Amino acid sequence: MRHAEAVRHRHNAMAFQAKTIIEPFRVKVVEPLPILDRHARAEALRAANFNLFSIRAADITVDLLTDSGTGAMSQEQWAGIMRGDESYAGSRSFLRFESVLKDLTGMTHIIPTHQGRASEKILFTAIGGAGKVIPSNTHFDTTRANVEFTGAEALDFVIEEGLDPSSEHPFKGNVDLPRLGAWLEAHHESVPVFVLTVTNNSGGGQPVSLENMRALRDLLNRFDIPLFLDCARFAENAWFIKMREPGQSGRTPREISQEMFRLCDGAMMSAKKDGFGNIGGFLAMNDNRWLIDCRNLLILTEGFPTYGGLAGRDLEALAIGLVEILDERYLEYRIASTEYVWRALDEAGIPLLRPAGGHAVYLDGRAFASHLDPAELPGQSVSIALYLEAGVRACEIGTVMFGSTRDDGLQNPSPMDLVRMAIPRRVYTQSHMDYVIEGVRYVFDNRESLRGYRIRDEPPALRHFTCGFEPIDHDPLA
Ligand code: F0G
Repeated sequence: MRHAEAVRHRHNAMAFQAKTIIEPFRVKVVEPLPILDRHARAEALRAANFNLFSIRAADITVDLLTDSGTGAMSQEQWAGIMRGDESYAGSRSFLRFESVLKDLTGMTHIIPTHQGRASEKILFTAIGGAGKVIPSNTHFDTTRANVEFTGAEALDFVIEEGLDPSSEHPFKGNVDLPRLGAWLEAHHESVPVFVLTVTNNSGGGQPVSLENMRALRDLLNRFDIPLFLDCARFAENAWFIKMREPGQSGRTPREISQEMFRLCDGAMMSAKKDGFGNIGGFLAMNDNRWLIDCRNLLILTEGFPTYGGLAGRDLEALAIGLVEILDERYLEYRIASTEYVWRALDEAGIPLLRPAGGHAVYLDGRAFASHLDPAELPGQSVSIALYLEAGVRACEIGTVMFGSTRDDGLQNPSPMDLVRMAIPRRVYTQSHMDYVIEGVRYVFDNRESLRGYRIRDEPPALRHFTCGFEPIDHDPLA
């Protein structure tokens, strides 16, 4: 006995406590990375009229345009694809998808859709319309567009810290409850639903605390207003709650997620993020009130209620992905790897939106290229330089995306000029990220050479996808 204890003691003394958080997977299938020289990238930029959305993926080395639909599926998901049941009605794959989501959300009705914005289109067609107002912490842009398309108004009530890139508040996605409460006193009758976005993508991938959600629930109860979760990144939000919120560290991400969903009356999801899917989404609700309308709209635009715009194999892959996403080892690695990039750039003095978000690192493009006027599109200039020098594709989230061209041809700038580097799930390794860090540092060290751009041609709406740019008085490719 004494001997056994001594052995155990010796083992404990030796217990290896790794500081390195490793990727909790290994690579089984590889996809070659295109590595072009600077000259070839310059040609690609010219051909794309300096719009990174027009660059072919084959010309990009590290693609951080989005974390949506760009993740790598697991061996279980690929095996699930083989088991996909393609029956038109009542397929096994749908029943599996439905049962996973009922367990996770606790909701009664699960409506599959082909992606997030299809859920938005269906929900807001059923409940929106002229005279209605839909408040949120921050509406994602497709959500806002789908609300406004029905004639309703979309309003954001995120806390003040959520709009300040330098604030270190741990839950910058929180709702400003006093401001919302005061506003509801006067306007609650025009509000069919409140939409809570977790994590808050448009505000930098910042989380919402459970405390804020519970208080929001109480506030909405006073006015009898349903709460819907835009839960594209629910698992990342749950991990932030576990890490940052007092009293939550002992709970699993699943338990925290279940509480988040149970505080709500409905949910809509782009499962291309925390569903580990390359495509897919859903709409879930408890209430029968809107169910018939939503199902009818689904049949009109998506498909029969047991496949809703997806193949049986997609439903199968999502049913597996929605369980895998809550693995603690995965979430620990995921959030730590985003923070790793953020920290290295912060230590290099590069201006960033603070603190690190869940799915992306946001450069403060306006501070990065502070010698440029916002009308000279500093975020676009930084994004172009990142591609030209390092083959890294990021996304301007600033004046190009949210500003507008005035009648005199000048730009109305947006409040911030950010550059989002979104990290696809389970795709890139630490050395890829070290390469990205080196590329951003190089562009930052040479930032005085960054010059402005103007918009040469633009479509009437969502201009950032297709507009053409031209450099102002310089040749960036020289
Ligand atoms: N809600 C949030 C919070 C999102 O981030 C997105 C998409 C959607 C809804 C719409 O979902 O693309 O499946 O139709 N975000 C992507 C991005 C496009 O790059 O952040 P979807």
